[in-house]
Amino acid sequence: MRIVLVGPPGAGKGTQAAYLANNLSIPHIATGDLFRANISQGTDLGKQARAYMDAGQLVPNEVTIEMAKDRMAQPDAENGFLLDGFPRNVGQAEALDVMLKGEGVKLDAVLDLEVPEDEVVKRIAGRRICRKDSAHVFHVAYNQPKTEGVCDVCGGELYQRDDDSEETVRTRLEVYHTQTEPIIDYYRAQGLVATISALGKVSEVTERAMAALNQPV
Ligand code: AP5
Ligand code: ZN
Repeated sequence: MRIVLVGPPGAGKGTQAAYLANNLSIPHIATGDLFRANISQGTDLGKQARAYMDAGQLVPNEVTIEMAKDRMAQPDAENGFLLDGFPRNVGQAEALDVMLKGEGVKLDAVLDLEVPEDEVVKRIAGRRICRKDSAHVFHVAYNQPKTEGVCDVCGGELYQRDDDSEETVRTRLEVYHTQTEPIIDYYRAQGLVATISALGKVSEVTERAMAALNQPV
């Protein structure tokens, strides 16, 4: 399957993507994780992306689209993928359409995670992620690691993202409303959007997501 996951910062996209990608046997492709990996490796791409991310702004499309295309061209994404955080504006959605059309394939669904803003702020304030792999995500109250400050999956150190400060979160929410939400209408016009509530336990949200994708849990 080819799926796009969309939702405000802190909605739980990364958390859900880990389960969904595993259940559906498709790679989880998160542009935010790809940028963070580039930053920690000190690559030119990471250097270009950093200032935008720290400010809560989108990294320019030229850089982002190339990076996403490269990742989607890897052999493990040949038969499907779960995109998390891409596309993030209409320009990126159009570029993705062109790319998929060129390969003669289509998206199967766009899963829209809906969550109130006050919940998003709580989720982001308590989030801790793993230094070794930013796809390993925890929360100080809602999703605690077995040992404080240590990743359950790989033993890496847990830390708070630089862009999770209150001020930057406000900017990210604003950017979401003005630049990312329009892609929901763009995909609605293609009949692809399934909106689900992202409130409740992680497992409950996963069940809703699998049902929306017409997949057995
Ligand atoms: P990115 O990394 O994509 O961040 P985001 O969209 O802001 O989303 P988050 O990672 O903050 O949240 P999430 O929805 O994944 O939530 P999570 O599962 O962690 O992007 C970061 C930056 O990179 C952007 O600002 C931009 O600069 C750049 N960028 C990335 N892609 C780009 C693109 N395409 N174009 C341009 N720029 C781009 O969950 C949050 C917390 O809640 C966790 O602690 C989790 O444990 C907890 N939680 C999850 N589910 C639940 C639940 N059901 N109940 C209670 N707690 C829960
Ligand atoms: Zn880890």
